[in-house]
Amino acid sequence: MRSFISAAAGIAALSFPFVHAQTFTDCDPTQEDCDNNPGLTESPLVCDFAADGESAFQGWTATAGALTYGSDGAEFTINQRGDAPTIQTDGYIFFGRVDVTMKAAPGTGIISSIVLQSDDLDEIDWEFIGGDNANVQSNFFGKGNTTVYNRGGVHPVADAQGTSHTYSVDWSQESMKFLIDDALIREVPFDADIALGGANYPQTPCNVRIGIWAGGDPDNSQGTIDWAGGETDYAQAPFTMTVQKVEITNYNPAGAYEWTDRSGSWESIE
Ligand SMILES: *[C@@H]1O[C@H](CO)[C@@H](O)[C@H](O)[C@H]1NC(C)=O
Repeated sequence: MRSFISAAAGIAALSFPFVHAQTFTDCDPTQEDCDNNPGLTESPLVCDFAADGESAFQGWTATAGALTYGSDGAEFTINQRGDAPTIQTDGYIFFGRVDVTMKAAPGTGIISSIVLQSDDLDEIDWEFIGGDNANVQSNFFGKGNTTVYNRGGVHPVADAQGTSHTYSVDWSQESMKFLIDDALIREVPFDADIALGGANYPQTPCNVRIGIWAGGDPDNSQGTIDWAGGETDYAQAPFTMTVQKVEITNYNPAGAYEWTDRSGSWESIE
């Protein structure tokens, strides 16, 4: 999503910080010395919000807003303009698998998203456009490179808003796989041309962010609003994304990850 948000950065970000809620970095290790990334050590981390409600909220921090809980799981709701509830794992994974069972939110311009992101802005995304109940988008970025927007994919899914599906990312050093209900729908190899032969392949420790935001907010750039499917009509709120369950497996569990140089390469991570 950052590709569109970058265009909206600056002015819009100042008045609507929630636009950046899921894609930011406090310290970019390719630019400056940063603290080590804490590892996600409880692997797999299994959070069954449908079965266990709020008590399943372990290993996460709410970075914007708050969740509510219903019989169907954790609810991410936009009740009014400015709402963008978002959660983020406390631990990072260094390659791994993320499975999220969820229903996307309806509503023109409303974006439900699952984002893996590293401190130098490697990113792997699932994104749902509220006005489109029949598709989900996959995308990725390497080292925050948004020069061109040729990495996104659009994938059919039956009733993304009314029916629970499991959306997975299986991310390794060899390839990144996107799966819906365990069926492989996209695979990007490390050395793919669109990953610039590996240079822009996501390869540094990522945390996992789940949230909802209004890409169709009238103050966003026209590019963002168009991508989001049009302007959001807040009179139609509430808009709710519901997450039944999240499971995260860290392929290289460690207490912490150290970036040993400024390269942003997987080989530099200890
Ligand atoms: C960013 O991506 C563009 C287009 O794919 C590429 O030409 C450029 O070299 C990349 N920049 C870096 C720093 O990798």
